[in-house]
Amino acid sequence: MTAPLRILLYRSDGQTAAWEAAFKAALPQAQVTTWIAGSADCDYAVIWAPPAALVAQLQHVKAIFLMGAGVDAILAFGAALPSAPLIRLGDAGMGLQMAEYVLHAVLRYFRRFDEYDRQLRLGVWKPLPAHDRSDFTVGVLGLGQLGTRVIDALRPFGFPLRGWSRRSKTIDGVACYAGLDALDDFLRGTRVLVCLLPLTPETENLLDRARLALLARGGFVINVARGAHIDDQALLALIREGYLAGATLDVFRTEPLPLDHPFWGEPRVTITPHVSALTLLDESVHQIAGKMQALARGDTVADIVDRTAGY
Ligand code: NDP
Ligand code: OXD
Repeated sequence: MTAPLRILLYRSDGQTAAWEAAFKAALPQAQVTTWIAGSADCDYAVIWAPPAALVAQLQHVKAIFLMGAGVDAILAFGAALPSAPLIRLGDAGMGLQMAEYVLHAVLRYFRRFDEYDRQLRLGVWKPLPAHDRSDFTVGVLGLGQLGTRVIDALRPFGFPLRGWSRRSKTIDGVACYAGLDALDDFLRGTRVLVCLLPLTPETENLLDRARLALLARGGFVINVARGAHIDDQALLALIREGYLAGATLDVFRTEPLPLDHPFWGEPRVTITPHVSALTLLDESVHQIAGKMQALARGDTVADIVDRTAGY
């Protein structure tokens, strides 16, 4: 008789009860427990934002699964991180949510609903001229699982589309740019910049004043990746100087966004509390349980983090 699979769960928000029930339903033979300071003896850990005390105890696990797509926080443990495969969520229902969020923001700017919102608060009835679609280039930084889903959602609307990635790509109907050498050309003339990059040493602080100022005058920034990609002060200054027209920000250097941060007071900055793509329990457990079964059969699985690349 083979020993039951032992799965250990941890979430920094403590909300593991539903995960425990879902894993027990998906893998009835498994022993599923939630970590509370003490032993972390298990085959697989399924975690989000773990404390150092837990990470230190995962030296003998077969794999570590993350309840999210971004791996910047876990890789920050550096050498303390066990060498077992680190497996992130691959879409798991986040692609559709990102597509909804970004499409909503792009259409809001294209159809000038941001300006009508400001007008209505002042009781102003004033039709504004339509933006020229051919002049509304949308550029997506990061052509991974989420970036490509966003591109697909934008496609039917006829905006000129651009994408930027580390390795070169060919995507139908999209002007593709790759590598740092091509970044300025990608930014130059982009009207709406969507950031869907992983946070790595190469992408941290990528969007400084000089680069943001390459965007088309009247441009917009939509950041749904990580706050540390962007220089907050530079973005705010370019908006207040009237060079950029606005930003929709879902992620911040410090979360929750501190109440004294100037973004709160700028009406052309739209803030959401890191909700552009939520981890969906059922899709995530289904995906992770499937990968555990594949590993048990000796098969390879997708979404293993490349620690050298940092994503
Ligand atoms: P992927 O790993 O699938 O894609 C990452 C993309 O970024 C790839 O196209 C990759 O290029 C590109 N990239 C990485 N490094 C560089 C670089 N130095 N220069 C240029 N391009 C680079 O990630 P996902 O699409 O799944 O997720 C992207 C990020 O979205 C996550 O890392 C996370 O931070 C964020 N996220 C935010 C959420 C939210 O609620 N706000 C929810 C989920 C994720 P290449 O194709 O060449 O490898
Ligand atoms: C993620 C996130 O990376 O929610 O999954 O930001």
